[in-house]
Amino acid sequence: MDHFNYKDGALHAEDVALAEIARAVGTPVYVYSTATLTRHFNLFRQALDWTDHLVCFAVKANSNLAVLKLLGDLGAGMDVVSGGEYARARAAGVPGERIVFSGVGKTREEMAQAIRGGIRQFNVESEPELAALSEVAQSLGATVPIAVRVNPDVDAKTHAKIATGKSENKFGIPIARAREVYAHAAALPGLQVVGIDMHIGSQLTDLEPYRQAYTRMADLCLTLRADGHPIMRLDLGGGLGIPYRRDNAAPPLPIEYGQVVRETVGDLGCEIEIEPGRNIAGNAGILLASVIWTKQGEGRDFLIVDAAMNDLIRPAMYDAHHDILPVRERAPGTEPAPVDVVGPVCETGDTFARGVPLPRMDDGELVAFRSAGAYGAVMASEYNSRPLVPEVLVAGDRFDVIRPRPTIEEMLARDRIPDWLT
Ligand code: LLP
Repeated sequence: MDHFNYKDGALHAEDVALAEIARAVGTPVYVYSTATLTRHFNLFRQALDWTDHLVCFAVKANSNLAVLKLLGDLGAGMDVVSGGEYARARAAGVPGERIVFSGVGKTREEMAQAIRGGIRQFNVESEPELAALSEVAQSLGATVPIAVRVNPDVDAKTHAKIATGKSENKFGIPIARAREVYAHAAALPGLQVVGIDMHIGSQLTDLEPYRQAYTRMADLCLTLRADGHPIMRLDLGGGLGIPYRRDNAAPPLPIEYGQVVRETVGDLGCEIEIEPGRNIAGNAGILLASVIWTKQGEGRDFLIVDAAMNDLIRPAMYDAHHDILPVRERAPGTEPAPVDVVGPVCETGDTFARGVPLPRMDDGELVAFRSAGAYGAVMASEYNSRPLVPEVLVAGDRFDVIRPRPTIEEMLARDRIPDWLT
């Protein structure tokens, strides 16, 4: 459930008409709903309310400071994967004790930044990383809590580009080598083993891969404890999928996911950490765009909009589907016709959807791309020198620009022409 609905014939974000935002900010623009973000975060909290837990929002999904502040104020922890994300979480007021640091290639500078600023735990992904982290921690006179990310070798049954828990993926250490690596970690100065970490992929629509992975994790937890490691925390990663199509069967709910967690790792007495990103932010955001015009092609019509692949790359990159809705509601029975919805960028890949049924759209009319709150604005670029897409946060009947659209002058001002060329 989200808070983007038709009211009085027009699509709204909560109580704000999207047309009002378009008038004030222009298009394209991302629009997020405070109520949906809050609701989705609370669903995860409720799903784990039977145990000690921390819901760490995966900052990569949506890293706007206002979004992080909203979730941080609700009590969220943060899962970060770079010094930049760490700085964002801190700037949004999230204390270091609620930040976990994941990622296969942390630099020594990033490690030092997080140790100095405060960190709940590093999720370590390799032996070279263990050695580097031990060195950095010692040089700062610190002992840092760690979990080792273990690759359970399960098939997450999702898009190949976002599956991470198979043995051929670059993530984590193979589960078969876990005992050896934990023994090594425990012997290194500056590190304190506190837990086990896993993340098997993103946009999972089936709970079975989770059940398999967490069952392996539970076995590993007992083995490692028998080896003398004080495993107190389990970081279960993120990845629970969202409905990208309103008319399709919905993926499992957080409460059902929480049940699988309980059944697999619930009786180990561990604190549970999870790292959802998409499930909290995805359906809490839309990309609002304007129709430039419709162009007749050979046997097909192209609806050309002012948003493009640089603003929302998911269709081009993962063949992802985003429902597209006209902001002005049509009367029931209005006949839709199939169109290709495309952006102005000079690539055939700049296609949002092929042959989707839409009512006839006027030039200048507004359209909304649903489910764009996660991996939307964060993956945007200025390709084709299109200024970075702005972001707006709605709360009830108010809206605020949380990242303004840069002017063309601001965009150009970032470049430098060296003296010898002037
Ligand atoms: N934790 C770790 C270690 C991750 O690598 C990820 C996502 C998450 C948590 C959050 O997963 P989520 O709950 O959002 O599924 N750009 C792609 C998605 C990439 C996901 C990468 N890792 C997309 O647009 O579909």
